[in-house]
Amino acid sequence: MEFRNVIRNRYSCRSFSDRPLEESKLQAILEAGRLAPTAKNIQEQRIYVLKSEDAIAKVDAATPCRYGAPVVLAVGYDITNVYTYPGGKHDSGMEDAAIVATHMILAAADEGVDSCWLNRFDPEALEASLGLPPNERILMLLDLGYGAADAAPSPRHESRKALEETVTVL
Ligand SMILES: Cc1cc2nc3c(=O)[nH]c(=O)nc-3n(C[C@H](O)[C@H](O)[C@H](O)COP(=O)(O)O)c2cc1C
Repeated sequence: MEFRNVIRNRYSCRSFSDRPLEESKLQAILEAGRLAPTAKNIQEQRIYVLKSEDAIAKVDAATPCRYGAPVVLAVGYDITNVYTYPGGKHDSGMEDAAIVATHMILAAADEGVDSCWLNRFDPEALEASLGLPPNERILMLLDLGYGAADAAPSPRHESRKALEETVTVL
């Protein structure tokens, strides 16, 4: 798909059908995340593909926002392997995980796969229920699948500020 159409077509899907996500499409989405830039190329992202009955039950216990998606990616990072910027106030972990997630959400749109970025969950509770090692944090969840017949962008999808409100040329 042409890149501008990928950007335009993506929306937050909040109603998924039970059509399974093809393994080839999942792999294409994961590959787009693998190719994302990270600070110093550390690649500290950690991605969990949650699709078993057990894993989906843990997602549902953590958030009301799966919306029936057959696959959910938990995207996080290894807190012991981040790049701490000079000055020591910030590190790359959340940024790098967010860039990886953004690559994957756009790759999903390119593959014709619907998605929704979720942050309405308790990361600590989910990290514990999934049994993540203590050095890993989950940043976000990414619902993946195919929209149900009633799936449609919310009114917020069409509401974007004018560039003048967010861009300053100096
Ligand atoms: C950081 C972040 C967190 C979000 N968390 C949730 C969420 O927990 N549940 C949900 O339904 N949508 C969530 N969204 C989706 C936003 O509400 C949505 O992107 C926004 O309203 C614009 O709509 P659109 O994605 O359809 O263009 C989140 C999006 C982002 C970027």
